[in-house]
Amino acid sequence: MKKICLITGCAGFIGFHTARALAAQGHEVVGIDNFNSYYDVNLKLAREKELKRHGIQIIHGDICDEQLLQGIAKQAPWTHWIHLAAQAGVRYSLINPQAYIEANIKGFTNILEVAKNSPQIKLCYASSSSVYGLNTKVPYSIHDRTDHQASFYGMTKKANELMAATYHHLYRISCIGMRFFTVYGPWGRPDMALYSFTQAILQNQPIKIYNFGKMSRDFTYIDDIVNGILAILDYQGTNELFNLGGHQPVELLYFVSLLEKALDKKAIIDLAPLQPGDILSTYADITESQEKLNFYPKTSVEEGIPKFVEWYKAYAKGGT
Ligand SMILES: NC(=O)c1ccc[n+]([C@@H]2O[C@H](COP(=O)([O-])OP(=O)(O)OC[C@H]3O[C@@H](n4cnc5c(N)ncnc54)[C@H](O)[C@@H]3O)[C@@H](O)[C@H]2O)c1
Repeated sequence: MKKICLITGCAGFIGFHTARALAAQGHEVVGIDNFNSYYDVNLKLAREKELKRHGIQIIHGDICDEQLLQGIAKQAPWTHWIHLAAQAGVRYSLINPQAYIEANIKGFTNILEVAKNSPQIKLCYASSSSVYGLNTKVPYSIHDRTDHQASFYGMTKKANELMAATYHHLYRISCIGMRFFTVYGPWGRPDMALYSFTQAILQNQPIKIYNFGKMSRDFTYIDDIVNGILAILDYQGTNELFNLGGHQPVELLYFVSLLEKALDKKAIIDLAPLQPGDILSTYADITESQEKLNFYPKTSVEEGIPKFVEWYKAYAKGGT
């Protein structure tokens, strides 16, 4: 059946790839994004240009504008809303917590209010591995408690999960939360390690590695994330959470060594202490995602990092 999807945060990294994949399968996709300047707006505009080539339009608007959202809800017989718009980033949440309250709490309330009045819309929304906060047991399971947040960002994502569960309880809306684990790949985010390290290495600038390198992340390639999202759209559950992670934690220094190899250039490494808000390691238990979504991530960092570098070099030259 043809899906009619709205993707919030469509000019963002994950939204862009999800939109392209859905359009390639013949589904109808419309985006909304406010093109904010948290990172280079030119990258968001370049993604928009690429999406236009695939017939996907992005409404330039803010999810905090409730009337706009209610108007969009009436414009089409939507089957799915994929909510990815948010203020992302752990470290920035120490600097500008208000931005997180605005986009992640107020914006999500508006999305839920639409869902309440549009029972035919299946909603899925981005949560994050950050909700595991100060948990030390790994791998992180969706059955683990998530009561001890390490960052304001993680707190807003945890709040989103509670808000969604409450709306499901009160109004029976259909909503599935997706806990993404450190997503990377072509068209990725400039504020995240892979992009910023690549930029710095090519410009002979030092890269900062926190906790003196003793950190690991469950890096997840974008195509695997998109496959997880597509599976969630077809999933029949109405109030669940899924871990979408690579299920293969990677030491940061090894990650950098792979990047050096792909760039054929050594990094200048500045080892630094742990930053407030940071988590030492992330590792997704994906048992439920495997069983219910057939989610089996395929791309290792050894394959994924060179793919990013190839894209980065083309993009930096003015291509894509
Ligand atoms: N990339 C990751 O590793 C990762 C990990 C965990 C969770 N997430 C979550 O996944 C989602 C997508 O992440 P991403 O990496 O694509 O981030 P992104 O920043 O590239 O995309 C988010 C998009 O939302 C837009 N946006 C922000 N506030 C908005 C508002 N008020 N109205 C309309 N648009 C708005 C931004 O302009 C941006 O284009 C986010 O919710 C993020 O918190 C991402």
